[in-house]
Amino acid sequence: MKRTEIIKALQLAGEGQLINVRGWVRSRRGNKNVSFIALNDGSTIKNIQIVVDLAQFPEEHLKPVTTGSCISATGHLVASQGSGQAVEIQLTELEVYGTADPEQYPLQKKGLSMEYLRTIAHLRPRTNTFGAVFRIRHNMAMAIHQYFHEHGFFYFHTPIITASDCEGAGQMFQVTTKNLYNLKKDEEGKIDYSDDFFGKQTSLTVSGQLEGELAAMALGKIYTFGPTFRAENSNTPRHLAEFWMIEPEVAFIQKDELMDLEEDFIKYCVRWALEHCKDDLEFLNQFVDKGLIARLESVIKTDFVRLTYTEGINILQEAIKNGKKFEFPCTWGDDLASEHERYLVEEHFGKPVIMSDYPKDIKAFYMKINEDDKTVQGTDVLFPQIGEIIGGSVREESLDKLNAEIERRDIPMKDMWWYLDTRRFGAAPHAGFGLGFERLMLFVTGMQNIRDVIPFPRTPKTAEF
Ligand code: 4AD
Ligand code: MG
Repeated sequence: MKRTEIIKALQLAGEGQLINVRGWVRSRRGNKNVSFIALNDGSTIKNIQIVVDLAQFPEEHLKPVTTGSCISATGHLVASQGSGQAVEIQLTELEVYGTADPEQYPLQKKGLSMEYLRTIAHLRPRTNTFGAVFRIRHNMAMAIHQYFHEHGFFYFHTPIITASDCEGAGQMFQVTTKNLYNLKKDEEGKIDYSDDFFGKQTSLTVSGQLEGELAAMALGKIYTFGPTFRAENSNTPRHLAEFWMIEPEVAFIQKDELMDLEEDFIKYCVRWALEHCKDDLEFLNQFVDKGLIARLESVIKTDFVRLTYTEGINILQEAIKNGKKFEFPCTWGDDLASEHERYLVEEHFGKPVIMSDYPKDIKAFYMKINEDDKTVQGTDVLFPQIGEIIGGSVREESLDKLNAEIERRDIPMKDMWWYLDTRRFGAAPHAGFGLGFERLMLFVTGMQNIRDVIPFPRTPKTAEF
């Protein structure tokens, strides 16, 4: 018999029709006469209740139907007499696909800690919380593609393996087929990569931006959406070594239009979650973060604050004058620490902030330099609870200024000639940004740790599964 997904079965009127559902048993309880199986197949957070008449199915046959086991159940869909569900299935036929020994199956109890669940990341998608998170993750990916498609952007695939360090932070994972047990070095102690797979030193990309810029200089509006890698030793609830980034790049726009795009795009994604992930959000709102739905609803209604870095520093210094204590200093020129960002967003303004025009020395080489020659047109979006969710900028389109900056920073240009060609041939004003997908996921789900919004997190000293 053809399987009906539980999400569909729950929408049917229970008129006694025969249906078949398949899934994993969440629980089984009952008495001498009747047994109730709560079955989940991942299509929805909701379980379907299967009622077993023990006169027809002796307890003995039901023995392998324990929490975690996988079954196929056929029966009549009827209106439920109990509260909590509209319909239920009266079992007529049962097949057990796979048992789960109660002595060994780790997901017996409720309320297991997030830390423990991380150690069983291969099974945690079967919990309510992670089922919800991963369904929302899928929906957010769809929202992103939908947004850009609707707005005339082309999905452009940038490479994962690259020879350039976009952010210039030296946090790249190397890619090599060299025999590390027998590494030859020259007289200066340098490694010769000419006989390596690509004939040069290569790494996993930290960002698709540089190639994205090339594409924007031909297709006008593009976006990338793929995995990026950073070998930064940051053991925080907001950093991953492997994360997904969405990077649009647009020709012919200026700073204001870039900030409009950042704001409009995030709001679209949040609205999408509220419209498409209702059941999962209600679950998370109840069990993970009581303020979640209210926060999501408020973000789509408020205008983000637009603030220059210099204005931000003034507010922070004023706060310090009035007795506010921070762990890290914040004088003009310093990179803001997350405590500073959170003060501005959560305490001072109480809403998202787009901060712009940062000192050039704390930002990457490609950002457009302002007239003052001190600041660049970076536009970061700072979010409550999260801190930086987007990093973006107008790009420096002048070949001379870009070259001067590259020289000042001593960036090796041998492998970047192609990037400079966009400034040599038909240079155009352009801008773009990168949204950390898992940071967006943190905001949309209310989860506290970035390790819990990606199926298999990669962090320092952890690459299990
Ligand atoms: O600010 P970042 O470093 O900017 C770039 O990489 C630019 N090339 C993007 C662009 O303009 N096309 O990173 C962008 C975003 C951050 O705002 C943050 O949300 C996320 O990527 N991010 C991380 N997310 C998880 N773990 C990490 N280690 C992250 N590093 C950055
Ligand atoms: Mg950044």
